Amino acid sequence: MATNMWALALSLLLFSTIYWKKIHVSAMELRVSKRPSVAAMYLLGDSSVDCGENTPFYSVLHQNLSMYPCNGSDSSLVPQILASKMGLQSSTPFYGQNGTIYGLLGGVNFGSAQATILSPRSRSYQSLNQQLRQAFETIQLLQLHLGEERAKHFVKSSLFYLSFGKDDFIRYFVDTSSGFSIKYNGTEFSRILARQMTNAVRNLYASNVRKIVCSGVLPLGCAPHMLLKRDDSNSSSGEVKGCFDEVNLMILEYNRKLEENIAAINVELPDAHIVFCDVFRAMMEFIDNPRPYGIEDVDSACCGLGKYGGTSGCISTDMACQRSLAHVWWDLYNPTTAVNSLIADSAWSGHPLSAISRPITVQELVSSSEKP
Ligand SMILES: *[C@@H]1O[C@H](CO)[C@@H](O)[C@H](O)[C@H]1NC(C)=O
Ligand SMILES: *[C@@H]1O[C@H](CO)[C@@H](O)[C@H](O)[C@H]1NC(C)=O
Ligand SMILES: *[C@@H]1O[C@H](CO)[C@@H](O)[C@H](O)[C@H]1NC(C)=O
Ligand SMILES: *[C@@H]1O[C@H](CO)[C@@H](O)[C@H](O)[C@H]1NC(C)=O
Ligand SMILES: *[C@@H]1O[C@H](CO)[C@@H](O)[C@H](O)[C@H]1NC(C)=O
Repeated sequence: MATNMWALALSLLLFSTIYWKKIHVSAMELRVSKRPSVAAMYLLGDSSVDCGENTPFYSVLHQNLSMYPCNGSDSSLVPQILASKMGLQSSTPFYGQNGTIYGLLGGVNFGSAQATILSPRSRSYQSLNQQLRQAFETIQLLQLHLGEERAKHFVKSSLFYLSFGKDDFIRYFVDTSSGFSIKYNGTEFSRILARQMTNAVRNLYASNVRKIVCSGVLPLGCAPHMLLKRDDSNSSSGEVKGCFDEVNLMILEYNRKLEENIAAINVELPDAHIVFCDVFRAMMEFIDNPRPYGIEDVDSACCGLGKYGGTSGCISTDMACQRSLAHVWWDLYNPTTAVNSLIADSAWSGHPLSAISRPITVQELVSSSEKP
């Protein structure tokens, strides 16, 4: 497709400009303080880290799904809310880089709405491996500009946030032309995804990354479009309640495996600080017990069309409900800003929900000092 060629050309052009611009950066400008804290935040992931701002031609390519997978801007997402708690500016989109080293030092969002762990079927978004490649190139550029030692220290004191998997499960259950559900059973598929994510974490560690937040997948089986699918497959049995269990069980299997692998890496590599963020458990708490959180609607999207607002995505924010904070779901697959804030608060400090970020809170991760 012509647009894909454009996206590719654009990324090559951008990267080569960044590459050839030589600028001296003084230690002062680096803002690496002796006090343990995070120097910058680098994001990799899907629509849980990017609203489409980092996907060239997103609005053209994804009209059917959701032109607005977030309410407003990236600042309504969990990692951006966490960044503001750390006193960091928002990471700039990879495709919005202005070609200077300063942009890279301020943190970069490599994320791309709809990104999958497994290879993409189209070039319209960057999958896990493509985003990793961009992250490694960025680390190399930092080495080039700062020198080996300073770059190493900078990367070690930066935070990497990874959030993938949702769109792989959507491909498994919804996009049957992917063939995944024929090729793999649930256990195999979950394990393949968890293994890929674990490899990503190991590869980042090998590039001196030490602080990582690795997000689990949300309870997609309770999302508006999945409820629609569940009803369709149960049309004869009348009113059905609850979530699409088959989807949620598979996601739980993935989350459990990923957390297990992360725990093993933390033991094997004592200077690694990796936390698992359990967005599944947090969201199930809001879905099962919505009232204390001011939530009134747990199954229909604030912005969408049809039953549960789940037949099509958020094509225009004019379609949105009046009070998005009363909803768990913003569109057919993504949570509202209100839910993201509750998740971020819980992951950061253990309130209102405890142990969402394990084994330590994100706040503890940020203040953990570099071990020698
Ligand atoms: C978009 O939606 C229309 C109407 O529902 C459908 O005919 C078309 O195939 C969809 N396009 C894509 C790329 O999914
Ligand atoms: C490039 O962006 C960085 C931050 O993202 C900013 O500090 C810097 O001034 C910008 N440089 C130019 C030449 O626009
Ligand atoms: C899934 O496939 C694996 C390997 O092919 C097999 O060992 C396992 O029993 C299967 N699980 C189920 C639930 O069918
Ligand atoms: C359909 O309903 C039956 C019985 O209520 C339930 O066991 C099954 O899991 C449902 N199917 C889906 C896809 O939710
Ligand atoms: C979200 O959507 C509501 C309307 O549903 C709107 O009032 C609000 O300003 C939007 N933005 C954010 C960041 O919540």
